[in-house]
Amino acid sequence: TWTSGNVVEQLVEAVRAQVGEDRVICGLSGGVDSSVAAALVQRAVGDQLTCVFVDHGLLREGEAEQVEQDFVEATGVDLVVVDARERFLTALAGVSDPEEKRKIIGREFIRVFEQAARDVVSAHEGADAQAHGDHPVKWLVQGTLYPDVVESGGGAGTASIKSHHNVGGLPDDLQFQLIEPLRTLFKDEVRQVGLELGVPEGIVWRQPFPGPGLGIRIVGEVTAGRLEVLRRADAIARAELTAAGLDRDIWQCPVVLLADVRSVGVQGDGRTYGHPVVLRPVSSEDAMTADWTRVPYDVLARISSRITNEVEEINRVVLDVTSKPPGTIEWE
Ligand code: XMP
Repeated sequence: TWTSGNVVEQLVEAVRAQVGEDRVICGLSGGVDSSVAAALVQRAVGDQLTCVFVDHGLLREGEAEQVEQDFVEATGVDLVVVDARERFLTALAGVSDPEEKRKIIGREFIRVFEQAARDVVSAHEGADAQAHGDHPVKWLVQGTLYPDVVESGGGAGTASIKSHHNVGGLPDDLQFQLIEPLRTLFKDEVRQVGLELGVPEGIVWRQPFPGPGLGIRIVGEVTAGRLEVLRRADAIARAELTAAGLDRDIWQCPVVLLADVRSVGVQGDGRTYGHPVVLRPVSSEDAMTADWTRVPYDVLARISSRITNEVEEINRVVLDVTSKPPGTIEWE
């Protein structure tokens, strides 16, 4: 029978057997999946693990700081933070196609991990470094879940819907071997495993946020200016949903910037010609299917009025009332 205790034991054993005495790095995003994967590997191989948090500039307001605080405080894990904002922006310049964005982001993540792996070895110098030569760290831990595999086309008989950054978005010349201890689990199971491992509740119950971040929530080219606009709108929506006590009722609520769309509005005595944002609140069990959440009108009204008042570039807020299928949760 499935108990989180049994599962943790089995997964820990499997990781130990796979890794042996090697050094391991883990891409940590602060989300549930990577945090639980990291905690599991830490339980299995202790300080052979170094976590790497990539600030790709596609994060939400306050997110980088939060990861450092919450996760490191709770686990004492060895964490390296890489500021890769320039690198990702440059790589994404001029790109509007969703799959192309996903592939670029997946590839850049890996390039950053490769560099981090070299740095980890110099930091631990000596025998370790010499023994591994060109392959400073062989193993990369990812928090890939079963639905990520299926929707990236990895499951039997499925077509690819979108390339999750850590599955279909990986580069062909990948030097790492992957450790994906959560690959057979659904989100609710991952949460149970996380609780079993003592991952703080604040992380275990965090709403999902995709690895490619705000990069796939800007329909159109990703630029620093557009990211800033979206970050501000997103922070308002999140704050209001939290204040209304809706965090546990909503699976997640992407805020999407339609950067290539403009519409006419009026503010004071003047005409505006700004961009719309879309609110996409969804309810779901496992993200494979979803329904749009009936958020109370007064909460929607507050979000709309605050965003249009406080974010100059946005003059219209619209609500996505599509279930999945036929829509997906993210717009790209
Ligand atoms: P879709 O848009 O496919 O999203 O309905 C299903 C769930 O997966 C999240 N998502 C991702 N998570 N890397 C991730 O770690 C990705 O590339 C990715 N794409 C989508 C999405 O936020 C939703 O929870």
